[in-house]
Amino acid sequence: MNQAKHIAIIMDGNGRWAELQGKKRVKGHEVGAKVVKEITTYCSNSAEVERLTLYAFSTENWKRPRLEVEFLMKLLNSYLKNELPVYLENNVRFESIGDTRAFSKTLQKTITMVKEKTAHCDGLVQSLALNYGAQDEILRAMNRLKSEEDDITIEMLSNTLDCKHDVDILIRTGGDHRLSNFLLWQSAYAELFFTDTLWPDFTPKELDKIIKKFTKIERRFGGLK
Ligand code: IPE
Ligand code: IPE
Ligand code: MG
Repeated sequence: MNQAKHIAIIMDGNGRWAELQGKKRVKGHEVGAKVVKEITTYCSNSAEVERLTLYAFSTENWKRPRLEVEFLMKLLNSYLKNELPVYLENNVRFESIGDTRAFSKTLQKTITMVKEKTAHCDGLVQSLALNYGAQDEILRAMNRLKSEEDDITIEMLSNTLDCKHDVDILIRTGGDHRLSNFLLWQSAYAELFFTDTLWPDFTPKELDKIIKKFTKIERRFGGLK
């Protein structure tokens, strides 16, 4: 039976969720952060999930209005600070992928602080994709490797990327069927799940259904069963 060791989620639909209720887009992000907590806690209690990678801010999201970007940065900072006791309580290690050098010093400090304080946790790894784009990740890795004398191998590149783990289940909420520059390399053989549910409405129950479906899929990886 397949094991859902690494689940990756494109958490989309926050803005539409808020607009549908006549609220400002940022309200959707606020509620979305609560769902991050619920889904993380759920995964931390699962015996099979080892890693949860969540797309929180893409390299393209800087194109949004300044106020929305600023709100997201503040939300991220307060989310991480408030979550620290929850990470510790649930034995969750916090990691990130993406180029966080573009963030403010304050936010960078918070990110480092939460990583350090949860470094000893050996339960679920929650990895947030922050200023992450797969193309940027691959380019940064290639640039690091370009001084190597030998030809670059698949293994060398895999081990130089921010995220070194193949994805088992890739979920996108919010109804669109695209990857938006998320984990392109690591999802080579991921099972893809798209749901119309907007992220603020996504529940552990729906995730559980997806995991159950995944369990029954025949994964062939190019071979024959
Ligand atoms: C996803 O929700 C969260 C981020 C990109 C930060 P959106 O903000 O993209 O919500 P929609 O897709 O506009 O509804
Ligand atoms: C993807 O959602 C990025 C995150 C969820 C952080 P977007 O809303 O930015 O993606 P597009 O613009 O619809 O492709
Ligand atoms: Mg969106």
